[in-house]
Amino acid sequence: MENTVLLTASDEDIKYAAELIKQGKTVGIPTETVYGLGADALDPEAVKKIFAAKGRPCDNPLIVHIYDIETAQRLAHHIPDLFYRLAEKFWPGPLTMIVPKRSIVPDETSGGLETVGIRMPSHDIMRKIIRLAGPIAAPSANRSGYPSPTSAQHVMRDMNGIIPAVIDGGESRFGVESTVISFDDEKTVRILRPGSVTKRMLEEAADNVLIDEAILSDLQRGRAAPSPGMKYKHYSPKAKVIMVEGDFDAFCKAAEKYRGKKTYCLVFDGDDTEKLPCRYMTYGSSSSEQAHHVFSRLREADEMNAEVVLVRAPSKDGVGLAVYNRLLRAAGFEVIRV
Ligand code: TXA
Ligand code: MG
Repeated sequence: MENTVLLTASDEDIKYAAELIKQGKTVGIPTETVYGLGADALDPEAVKKIFAAKGRPCDNPLIVHIYDIETAQRLAHHIPDLFYRLAEKFWPGPLTMIVPKRSIVPDETSGGLETVGIRMPSHDIMRKIIRLAGPIAAPSANRSGYPSPTSAQHVMRDMNGIIPAVIDGGESRFGVESTVISFDDEKTVRILRPGSVTKRMLEEAADNVLIDEAILSDLQRGRAAPSPGMKYKHYSPKAKVIMVEGDFDAFCKAAEKYRGKKTYCLVFDGDDTEKLPCRYMTYGSSSSEQAHHVFSRLREADEMNAEVVLVRAPSKDGVGLAVYNRLLRAAGFEVIRV
């Protein structure tokens, strides 16, 4: 056990965080999507500490965060032209692209795969640290299986005493993790994890954009996971999450069954909450607000010792698909359709 220091966004603290990373240690770092648990992406021993701190299965690869496009060429080869077009349009920002890795990327980082996921984040603090310390491997800074952290306090709750430091950069802007894509061919992009860079946005640069079937359903038996992260339990608070699809009146009716238990309803801002038979929280009205709040609400439910969280299903349009995908997994695919 070590004491976890909460650092500020001052230049001095950022320099200190970069030093820790250069020494092979891990640091909780804010990004525009969620907080990451960063370490030197090219140092296998440092990367192992990430897996240990999170309790993450070692075959689940880490995203490598870079400062400039030249670094992508150092880490990967056979990079399609489409990669550069997408980078031009969406980097720095919440898009991760999977390409064949060079041997400079350790197997520990890539979870034993021959590919690497690369992202150029836009968050000022993360960028400064990468510039000082080099490419950074960073999964979301939660304990494996738990909702992703969108504040330094969330990281502290999961990692206090386990990692040396967390930088407090306030609340994450987007609130859901980056869109992860791979390339089926020169013209075709496959979305493996939806995020704030939506299908429609990708279609502005790519001829074909496919949504992998695992995004909205449990992995079919026998089918290999195109992304190892799909295999694992994800985003789940201690409380049991159940998603309810339908309009608000139908939601209220479904909630009747759970009255009296330690149930919290998680509904939209603007819903007529007086009609609800249980205690409630709201998570926004638009998809981007819902993305911003979804993980912190799931964490709050645990703080209030909820046993069940009944979530009103978000729209699957645009960024909504990312929110739906996270909630579907948090619910272990348990959906009530009314
Ligand atoms: O927004 C984000 O992407 C955040 C911030 C910190 O940058 N990071 C993040 O990392 O969400 P993580 O490890 O929690 O999720 C990465 C996902 C995992 O599901 C992993 O399986 C998948 O991306 N992934 C990473 N590299 C891959 C690869 N080479 N092939 C297939 N899937 C990959
Ligand atoms: Mg994660």
